[in-house]
Amino acid sequence: MGEGVSIAVVGSGYVGLVAAACFAEIGHRVVCVDNDEGKVRMLREGGVPIHEDYLPELLNRHRANRVEFTTDLKAATEGAQAIFIAVGTPQSETGSADMSYVDAVASEIARSIGDYKVIVEKSTVPVYTNEWIRKVLERNGVPQDLFDVASNPEFLREGTAVVDFLHADRIVLGAETERAAALLRAIYEPLTSGAYYRTAHAVPGARSADDPPPVLLTTTKAAEIIKHASNAFLAAKISFINVVANICEAAGADVEDVARGMGMDTRIGPKFLRAGIGYGGSCFPKDVAAFRHVAEQMNIEFGLLEEVEKINAEQKRRFFRKVRAALWTFRGKKIAALGLAFKGGTDDVRESPALEIVELMLREGAMVRAYDPAAAARASETIPAGEQMQYLDDAYEAARDADAVVILNDWQEFAELDLKRLRAALRYPIVVDGRNLFDPEAMAAQGFTYLSVGRPVAHPVREAIHSR
Ligand code: UGA
Repeated sequence: MGEGVSIAVVGSGYVGLVAAACFAEIGHRVVCVDNDEGKVRMLREGGVPIHEDYLPELLNRHRANRVEFTTDLKAATEGAQAIFIAVGTPQSETGSADMSYVDAVASEIARSIGDYKVIVEKSTVPVYTNEWIRKVLERNGVPQDLFDVASNPEFLREGTAVVDFLHADRIVLGAETERAAALLRAIYEPLTSGAYYRTAHAVPGARSADDPPPVLLTTTKAAEIIKHASNAFLAAKISFINVVANICEAAGADVEDVARGMGMDTRIGPKFLRAGIGYGGSCFPKDVAAFRHVAEQMNIEFGLLEEVEKINAEQKRRFFRKVRAALWTFRGKKIAALGLAFKGGTDDVRESPALEIVELMLREGAMVRAYDPAAAARASETIPAGEQMQYLDDAYEAARDADAVVILNDWQEFAELDLKRLRAALRYPIVVDGRNLFDPEAMAAQGFTYLSVGRPVAHPVREAIHSR
């Protein structure tokens, strides 16, 4: 795969760290910069700050060889041909994306440009960010022929980030000059040519040498909008199916069948049609708000996004009311809460619907016994352990003597629970499932009262008293 490109990645959050590890994996020389000294030390010493499949393996494979970590932005960017900005763009009070980190990094990069570089925006940003970065560089006296600004949005999901990166559905490159486009193409060439998938150690996934990811080369503005519009659209798909689920509940139909039937239409597709307790995480809530703000700034009516947010907020409350209705009242009740992260497969609890629901239950006097395979430490920073809130080491422990089990995210481990053991641990065999992990009939056959989302309630199958 040749000599590779010299790359600096600024920011070692989910996007930055995964991009750095994957760029090294496909043959480039990468310096990953962060101003958090503790994090950089940890990464240098072999630690991995996030729970992500394949990331520890890739970092071990390339650390001190093709990927380095530093706090020195100037040194890292001076030696780089491409500088990827992957710092946070948190939500500001107005809902817009707070661009102050990107602004600060752009000004600092400006001070270290001595030869031609492509500055690539990888964080999720509002349209026009590329123009702003260009202005910041020009204001700091960088000659126009020494840099280009490009956009290369990232579509990775937490938990499967490495596979999403290396086996992308598409690679979107927004560039305004042939020179910048050529460098970006060279960076992704090991993936787009299929060469990476032929290497012995390649991370397995959907792509192969015969079916490599396609590239969409477009303008920087279109690339920026593609990212916001994709996340907003996926969030809308989830809110849509959640309302359909509520209709199914009222009508006595099964939303899983409805979603299957809708998804078989190739124009709709089966993905992101899983009804539940609403979306969370560090992306969808923030990006829907930011995209709505972008539209507002342009005097464009996008009320659809407001509705998406409203439905999402209501879906969490609705589920909470469902749990309450199953128990009559929360005061004095012991609830086993399975799942704390915003979804299974991650330890991230940012904007987690699970935590929100746990908080509502605590507020109404429940005792919560919580278990999550990875997120307990992070969750306890938001909801400290105490008399009312306990963190347990496994699902059966959490369920011991509980009045009900409440399932709040979709770890595979939960779907594989030994139902007999679970039932034996509980005081009352009630399961309220916010992620539809089980088959209602199977739960009823195991003696559970089982409530889920968008499906009829299943009651325990009992021998009929008067049957002969
Ligand atoms: C999301 C996007 O899926 C990625 O493409 C994008 O790159 C990323 O945001 C980002 O902008 O960085 P992520 O937040 O990791 O990725 O998580 P998802 O797997 O998309 O799930 C988001 C939320 O929607 C979770 O709370 C999940 O439980 C929920 N969800 C997802 C549903 O309720 N139903 C579904 O059918 C799918």
